[in-house]
Amino acid sequence: MKVLITGATGLIGKTLVGLCHEEKIDVHYLTTSKDKIKNDSNYKGFYWNPTNGEIDEKAFDGVEAIINLVGASISKRWTKAYKKVILESRTQTANLIFNTLKNRDHTVKQFISASGISIYPNSKTRLYSEEDTDVDNTFLAEVVIAWEAAADQFKNLGIDVSKVRTGVVLSKNEGALPKLKQPVEAGFGAPLGSGKQWLSWIHLQDIACIYLQILMNEWEGTYNAVAPNPVTNKKMTKKIAYYLDKTLWLPDVPGFILKLILGEMAVLVLEGQLVTSKKLEKQGYTFQYYNIENALEDLL
Ligand SMILES: NC(=O)c1ccc[n+]([C@@H]2O[C@H](COP(=O)([O-])OP(=O)(O)OC[C@H]3O[C@@H](n4cnc5c(N)ncnc54)[C@H](OP(=O)(O)O)[C@@H]3O)[C@@H](O)[C@H]2O)c1
Repeated sequence: MKVLITGATGLIGKTLVGLCHEEKIDVHYLTTSKDKIKNDSNYKGFYWNPTNGEIDEKAFDGVEAIINLVGASISKRWTKAYKKVILESRTQTANLIFNTLKNRDHTVKQFISASGISIYPNSKTRLYSEEDTDVDNTFLAEVVIAWEAAADQFKNLGIDVSKVRTGVVLSKNEGALPKLKQPVEAGFGAPLGSGKQWLSWIHLQDIACIYLQILMNEWEGTYNAVAPNPVTNKKMTKKIAYYLDKTLWLPDVPGFILKLILGEMAVLVLEGQLVTSKKLEKQGYTFQYYNIENALEDLL
């Protein structure tokens, strides 16, 4: 089997490529960096520049499924110009792939798209499943809605679509955990805002395995990719301190200070959603990292 992955050079992509190779699945990938292009027998890179519509169509040769992980980081300052980059790096990219496939013969049967749980409204009490249709009124929710619509259009080409609403991915050296860990390590860790906001997290190994299972079992539809036991911001901060053998002595950081420092981006730390992973579990996925304790024990 051969799969095309966009964003293969990123955090989730790198782990997923390793898992594909263990299963003898060959990987083609599209990259915006010519210096990241490799040409191994089971890992071939192809250049694209989604902003000006450039794509190396050889990337689609013999490909049965596409895993679309491309997306500019959401943790850089949300200026007006950068918000456009966040959105278009998800929509323009999917549109470019769609228009390319529409106009050529291809063998693609499955399109698996990254998505985010930030589509669900901020709440301390509601438990969100894939059936919930309420959407948040934040910039990130707007992005997710447009991103999922861009993925859904592949159904018009007779291609099965899966959307992976991903929680906060925890890994050793990249993504959210190093940022959460830094102040605690430096002795300035404290819960943020009320500390009661939910953090629906997932271990890197699990999110990569979920993509692999969706690919290999051809699971269609929308899936919440979060660990079965989300935690509050306060519990996460306390657990990180525990595993780093540090004491939390500062009072909670007031929300208004975070809003002053981070502006609109403060929603990333002050808001959260309690999300259930039951659909994936019923589908047959068994989580390797079920509780925050076993995830942090592994990662810290
Ligand atoms: N990590 C998380 O906590 C998390 C949570 C929810 C959802 N997700 C979503 O899951 C997907 C993968 O996440 P990740 O953490 O692995 O992402 P990542 O490490 O930031 O990697 C994304 C890849 O996208 C490409 N890219 C970045 N900016 C781009 C731009 N402006 N235009 C075109 N390509 C661009 C880069 O590949 P090249 O340099 O090879 O072009 C990069 O390696 C993303 O869509 C992300 O939004 C992640």
